[in-house]
Amino acid sequence: MNVTVKHAPLTDISADWLVVFLFEGGSLPDNVRTLDERLGGAIAALIERGDFTGKLCESVDLFHVPGIAAKRVCLIGLGEAASFNVSKVDRAVMSACRRVSVRAAVSAALAIPGDLGSVALGTAVQILGWASEVGSVGQGLYRAEKDRHRFTEFQIVVASPDRLAEWQSQASRGQILGEATNLTRELVNMAPADMYPETFAARAEAVAKEVGLECEVFDESRLRAERMLSLMAVGQGSARPPRVVLLRYQGAAPDAPYVSLIGKGVTFDSGGLSLKPTEGMKTMKADMAGAATVLGAMSAIARLKLPVNILGAVGLVENMVSGASYKLGDILKARNGVTIEVLNTDAEGRLVLADVLSYVADQKVAKMIDLATLTGACVVALGEEVVGAFTNDQPWCDEVLAAAKRAGEDVWQLPMFDSFADQLRCEVADVKNVGTRWGGAITAAKFLEKFVSGIPWVHLDIAGPAFSEAQKPHRDGGASGAMVRTLVEIFSV
Ligand code: BES
Ligand code: MN
Ligand code: ZN
Repeated sequence: MNVTVKHAPLTDISADWLVVFLFEGGSLPDNVRTLDERLGGAIAALIERGDFTGKLCESVDLFHVPGIAAKRVCLIGLGEAASFNVSKVDRAVMSACRRVSVRAAVSAALAIPGDLGSVALGTAVQILGWASEVGSVGQGLYRAEKDRHRFTEFQIVVASPDRLAEWQSQASRGQILGEATNLTRELVNMAPADMYPETFAARAEAVAKEVGLECEVFDESRLRAERMLSLMAVGQGSARPPRVVLLRYQGAAPDAPYVSLIGKGVTFDSGGLSLKPTEGMKTMKADMAGAATVLGAMSAIARLKLPVNILGAVGLVENMVSGASYKLGDILKARNGVTIEVLNTDAEGRLVLADVLSYVADQKVAKMIDLATLTGACVVALGEEVVGAFTNDQPWCDEVLAAAKRAGEDVWQLPMFDSFADQLRCEVADVKNVGTRWGGAITAAKFLEKFVSGIPWVHLDIAGPAFSEAQKPHRDGGASGAMVRTLVEIFSV
């Protein structure tokens, strides 16, 4: 899609939709006042009568707009100027893009105020570029009739003629991030009959080839040779064999340290013999969101040619029920020699990650981040829109949290007190795979910590934000592609 940044009078912008963003209260910016004069004061009248207040994501359409070049106008609220921030840009801009992409073959122009308070104009332009992609693709992958349509043209109209080239490159960067987010969303939204370890691996190979990543796939014999027996146990009840995919991106000197991004890729989580009820199982095609986020982020990092070295690693298995399933009471020997008593086959993500983390730790990476739809407990603790963060190294975690803040994604750190690890003590093996009912997101993190060899590590539990059945004004239902932007942002300064 063609995204251009320009400065021109709003009356002259030709497009099927002209979207005008306005703050709550406040007077109309100069360029909007000129537009409103040509429209006979229609906008001022809407505000006067209280039909448009400017509340965040509020939207009012004007279909009859003679006298200007655009065919329709849509007003979108930005909320109060004083409390404006990056995550509000995101919401307003996504509401706009979703609103105007309901019909096919539409061109859109979006006009943003010159003064965005604490939000830099470049940041806003980047988010617009991102939303042009993410807001125009829905979750109807398998529908003949789509409810979202790509724009034929997307113009970002800024209030000043200065620094247009700079804004243009921000918009293009946003588009790359948007395409990466959509890649993650697509993989997560795919039905589990289509997206299983082998097909994920094949797709990873295709993406790697396209963007210039090195890609290596471990099949079963290689996984056995690597002693990844904990990961393999989870997959053994499935007709679909497990895979591990390694992705390498070298954007810095070959001897510069590598940072590793690790993803949980359970392509379907039935719970295994500790079978989930229907309600809990319904969305478990999304249990590979961590893996899809790693692939999406690395595709963007490679396309943006960021000056870093990254090792991506995803563990792909299907957690199923059959005569070959792993059982409660089984003792697994993880790659690093730790023995694990399985007391709940639905606590499978940590068993998959254990082996991938230990493999990555042995590659002598400097730092690691894993992403996983790991626990329902994290959703209970933080809700559906906040990612849980856990770490063994506060400075590294602070870097990740700061990047999330810049990217406008909500992440909240939870504690890692050693007392939580006590829940995992086991009489028959080194550790058991579940604790008590309480603090489940933290005990899961304490379990993972045993496999990172003391390397600075951040665990991100994305069980809440990765997927939501319901749509919101600012996002489609289904997969969100959460944390793709944050991961890229970490390596962008
Ligand atoms: N994939 C689930 C966690 C999950 C739940 C993700 C809801 C997204 C939404 C994970 O494998 C799981 O089943 N965890 C169990 C752990 C328990 C058995 C200790 C859980 O959260 O109930
Ligand atoms: Mn599970
Ligand atoms: Zn799971």
